[in-house]
Parts: sequence; C-alpha cells; structure tokens
Amino acid sequence: MRSYKATMVDPIRLLPREDREAALRDAGFNVFNLDSADVFVDLLTDSGTGTMSNAQWAAMFRGDEAYAGSESFHELEAAVRDVMGFEHVVPAHQGRGAENVLYGSLVSEGDVVFNNAHFDTTRAHIAANGGDPVDCPVPEATDMDSDAPFKGNFDVETAREVVDDVGAENVPVVVLTITNNSMAGQPVSVANTREVAAFADEVDATFVIDACRFAENAHFVQRREPEFADASVAAIAREQLSYADACVMSGKKDGLVNVGGFVGLADRGDLYEQCRQRGILFEGFSTYGGMSGRDLAAFAVGLREAVDPPYVEERVAQVQALCEALDDRGVPVYQPAGGHAVYVNANEALPHIPRDQYPGQAFVCELYREGGVRAVELGRFAFPGTDRADLVRLAVPRRTYGPDHMEHVADTAAAVCERGEEVSGYEVVSEPSMPELRHFSAELRPL
Ligand code: F0G
Repeated sequence: MRSYKATMVDPIRLLPREDREAALRDAGFNVFNLDSADVFVDLLTDSGTGTMSNAQWAAMFRGDEAYAGSESFHELEAAVRDVMGFEHVVPAHQGRGAENVLYGSLVSEGDVVFNNAHFDTTRAHIAANGGDPVDCPVPEATDMDSDAPFKGNFDVETAREVVDDVGAENVPVVVLTITNNSMAGQPVSVANTREVAAFADEVDATFVIDACRFAENAHFVQRREPEFADASVAAIAREQLSYADACVMSGKKDGLVNVGGFVGLADRGDLYEQCRQRGILFEGFSTYGGMSGRDLAAFAVGLREAVDPPYVEERVAQVQALCEALDDRGVPVYQPAGGHAVYVNANEALPHIPRDQYPGQAFVCELYREGGVRAVELGRFAFPGTDRADLVRLAVPRRTYGPDHMEHVADTAAAVCERGEEVSGYEVVSEPSMPELRHFSAELRPL
C-alpha cells in the first residue's frame, strides 16, 4: 500500500479511438510527437514526470534566486554530500547538461569510453567529443529469462580485451550506469562496482558513475546482495557511490524533481575546475547551473526522500507488479523487472514483423491505438546499427499512477498481443543527421 495520499489531481482522459488514430498519424507514428493531452497513461519516461511531495513544494517557496551564492544551492550541496557522498557539485539543468560538462572535460578525439551500456544521450555526448562509446554488458543482460540478480553489471573482461587493442592511454574514463537503463533497468552490484573501480584504476581512467537511479539500484542491492541484507538503502547508496571519482546525475529520476542535474566530484582537483568553467559556459554560474533557486531547493529535499524508507521499496514494487500483471496476461516481458520500467520483448510479441521493420515501434504505436498508453521503443529504432533486441519500455513515473492505471496498461498490452498478427511493420521516412538521437524526431510510415 502506498504510504502517501494525493492532495492534487491532474485530470486525464482516454480519447475516442478514431481521435487516437488521427493523433498517431499526425505524429508521424512517433509518440514523441504526440500531445500529452492526447495520452491517457503516459509511460514514455520516468524522467521529470514524477510527483513532488508537499515538503518539496514547501521548499520551493523558500528558493533563493540569487545569481551567486544561492542558499538553495548550498542546500543541494549539503544533500549531495549527505546522501551521495560527493563533496563538490557542479550544477546543470539536467542530466545531459551534466554529461556535456563532464565528458566535454574528459573525452577527446580518438578516445574510447567504456560503459556497462551507454544511454542514448551519454553515447551522443561521447561521440560528439570524438570518442568511441563501447558497451560492456554482462552476457546474461541479453538473456530475457535469466533470473540472475545483477544483469546490469559491467563486464570487465570485454573492456580489458578492447584495452589490449587500443591501449590504456586512450581510455580517459570508465562509466558505470546504475541502474542500467539501456539494459532493461537492471541493477549493478556493489561487488561489480568495486571491480570496475579497480579496472579504471588499472588503466588510469577517471571512474564515473551515472547515478540517475542510484536509490533504486541500492534497493536491489539490499534485496539481492547478501553482504548488504541488513544495510539501509541510504548506507548502500553511499557505499556504492564512494568508489567513483565523479558522478553524473539527472535529478529528474532519483532526485524526485521535474528538472535538474549535476556533476558530483570527490576532489577539488583539475577536473572539478574544468567542469566548473565548462558549467559556467554552458549551464550558468556554478551556484545555479541552469536551475532556478526553487528547482535547487526541491532537488535538495527530493534527494533525501529518495533514500528515505519506504519510498523506494514501494516504487520498485509497483514496477514489479506491472511486470507480473503483463506476464500473467501472456505479454512477453524481460525478466526480472527493472527498477523504473518493464520492458516488453516485441520480437516475441510480434514475431511476424521482420526486424528491419521495427517491431518495437509497431508495438509502441499499437499500445497508443489500443488504450492511449504511451511507451518508448528502445530497440533498433532508438539505437540504429546495433543488434539489440527490439524492446519496448514502459517507464513508470514516480508517485504518480495507481494500480488501476497499471491494470489498464497490462490489459492494453495483452489486447495488442492478442491481435498481433494484424499489426504491420514500419519504415522510417525522415530522420535527423545524428543517428544517436534518431528516435526523438524521426517520422515513420506503416508498411
Ligand atoms: N543517463 C541515463 C542513464 C538516463 O537514463 C538519462 C535520461 C540521462 C543520463 C540523461 O538525463 O534526461 O536529465 O538529460 N533518461 C531519460 C529516459 C530521458 O527516458 O530514460 P536527462
């Protein structure tokens, strides 16, 4: 049962079927182009779409809007120190702003960057700085039925083999993304974090944790890694993050805010100074970084709430319940559920659609047609040129929807599977020049 009540409502409605059909056509069969008013249950992302607490709203009223030395920035800094253990904070408007600040400082032409799996904006920022982003998932990450506890882990052996080819001097940074969004939101163990930290040290690279979903990851560690069975989520989060030299954070996830981000750094060395200057250039002065004082204040409170029981336990339980509801109805899902999302295997749901006709995107379009549900494809439409499975992500916003909405989503997905044979594939009719960002703005046509 949820340990909070809602005291503000945001009405939603299910459009008539013919209006959904027209909206989808007008959107070029890309749900990023839909108006949110035309969406019934919006599971496009868990990023910035959650509900803030009354304590966060109260903090917003006290936001200090000073350009320099804002009190609200100091509140955020204190929360980052207490909750995540990073002493220094370079604020940014959101996660990708922090990525630009950090990777622009660390990566140059010809470099190789390892990650358990790069998220799309991370991949794009590494590539934009001339780097080559190399994914190092563990083999069980792509086995959708394996019940391995930490399918988000980083495979150090894969990275070592690449280092043998390219040379350690070309590896400036090693990234570990917790949880692993591009690998079905699977968690990363603390043992693996230690191993990756040792590897980064071995190749003399900066060890960065992409900490967007650090609290959800800590919850899984508590449940699945025996060493931490008796530790609190707050203690686990600090332990796991303590191995990193720096973190990139999108507050829109486990910061429980609608916007905001930062680079966290353990030391006030050259990297901090470089990030600070780059932050001033791209994000804003180093005590606001693109956020208003109000945003900073709400973020400071949100970070503390993210590790305060029972929030994260209920949050992950809701995602798991959705996964079970889908599984019970015969919808093929990646098991186990991730921390923030359930991933449907569209290759299994729509086996008659050839893989070059984007079965994942076809499933996304049908979810909207069938029940006004918005999801996102994270297969070969989003990641062109890769050999990944065509997964459809149902990302659950934090503290926002209830069990009846989740039932509707499960029923909708089951209805799509039932009439799957009628569903056609798609072709891309227009796409932007940067392939890493294709799914945000490409348009498609049913075949
Ligand atoms: N890193 C990871 C692992 C992410 O999941 C995201 C965003 C970012 C960085 C960038 O953060 O959006 O604040 O600029 N993920 C969202 C998603 C967009 O839908 O998964 P941002």
